[in-house]
Amino acid sequence: MFESMNDRERHDRRATTSGLLAAVIIATLAIPFAATTDDSRDRGRDLYEQRCALCHGSDGRGTTDNPVVPVPRPDFTECDFASREPDADWGAVVAGGGPVRGFSPLMPPHATMLNDEEIALILHHVRSFCSDTRWPRGEMNLPRPIFTEKAFPEDEVVITTLGDVNREADAVTTEFLFEKRIGPRGMLEVTMPIESVDVATGGGGTKQRSGIGDLGLGLKYAFFHDLDLGFISSLGSEFKLPTGDEDRGLGKGSVVYEPYLALGQIFAEDGFAQVQLLGEIPTDRDLSDEVQLRTAIGWAFELNEHGRVFAPMVEVIGAWDLQGKDDASWDIAPQIQIPLNRRQHVRLNLAARIPLSDTSTRPTRVGGYLMWDWFDGGLFDGW
Ligand code: HEC
Repeated sequence: MFESMNDRERHDRRATTSGLLAAVIIATLAIPFAATTDDSRDRGRDLYEQRCALCHGSDGRGTTDNPVVPVPRPDFTECDFASREPDADWGAVVAGGGPVRGFSPLMPPHATMLNDEEIALILHHVRSFCSDTRWPRGEMNLPRPIFTEKAFPEDEVVITTLGDVNREADAVTTEFLFEKRIGPRGMLEVTMPIESVDVATGGGGTKQRSGIGDLGLGLKYAFFHDLDLGFISSLGSEFKLPTGDEDRGLGKGSVVYEPYLALGQIFAEDGFAQVQLLGEIPTDRDLSDEVQLRTAIGWAFELNEHGRVFAPMVEVIGAWDLQGKDDASWDIAPQIQIPLNRRQHVRLNLAARIPLSDTSTRPTRVGGYLMWDWFDGGLFDGW
């Protein structure tokens, strides 16, 4: 994957935090390193002026008086846009030209004029146009696991479908999710499940019933993020409203409050881990409170340079009934996220959720999701 100067610095820093010896080496190198950083900053600005300012403007807002380039240029000073693009994507566009990410060919390729190091220096300069550090950087927008909530605030539409396998009568759940960012760190989300479940009939048989489940309304806030550490953390909460028909087996029949903590950590070599600690507290006190720990580890890789990024992941999900009525349950969910278009803002996930405990009563479920990051373009843009 394209490595920016920032990435390299970060990997170095992460790899060397463990030992005292490393600290001594860093301290010894600190002075010459700082000196080269100043030089490289100037070089990045000079290269930007030579190669990019004609179209993107010295101020990064995009020139408006350039009739040869009729396609509007993005405004790099606008943090809402600039912060969410990772260096890997921008580096790919700069090296390979707009079309590698489904943008206009009027954004020319620079791979023959600039080497990777020069591109990294230029991007370092481009990053200086948005100076508001409250906006978490797109690098921390890790691939979305199917069950574990991400820490990064998003503008997305996700449709998730899961169906039971290895059962005589199958149940299917489809959930529609809409997420909208609020400001630099916040996010609003609405979920609506449509469920088709098997309900027992009097004579010992089952009958399939379909309908809407419990509507969810949620808020999330990224209270801490640090690109150097490769770490992001959010607090969120969701209210599930009892819109499902409980008698027909759809929904819980109670308002459920679901507070959670979500963490994301980038590792070297494009590995990552995500964790969500979630409580489920029904207002109907006859129902049990539950705690869930959802964890995902994965790896993002591209098949060719500046190509699409695939992300195989494994989630492990543990659930505990705090009233002790049920035993703890464990599930494992192997999956892969596949970008469907060149811009990579439309993605598919294929997953299986396999119970590790209580396997005789809990079915394996298979399915996946279709995700559209609507901030990055229309559903039919960038293919
Ligand atoms: C000939 C004009 C031109 C030059 C020179 C040029 N660009 Fe662009 N650039 C564009 C246009 C036009 C777009 C918008 C493409 C679109 O939206 O389809 C663009 C888009 C971009 C994007 C946006 C990708 C996104 O996520 O939206 C980045 C980053 C970028 N350019 C960086 C650079 C850098 C860095 C340089 C110098 C090395 C450079 N460009 C040189 C015209 C140019």
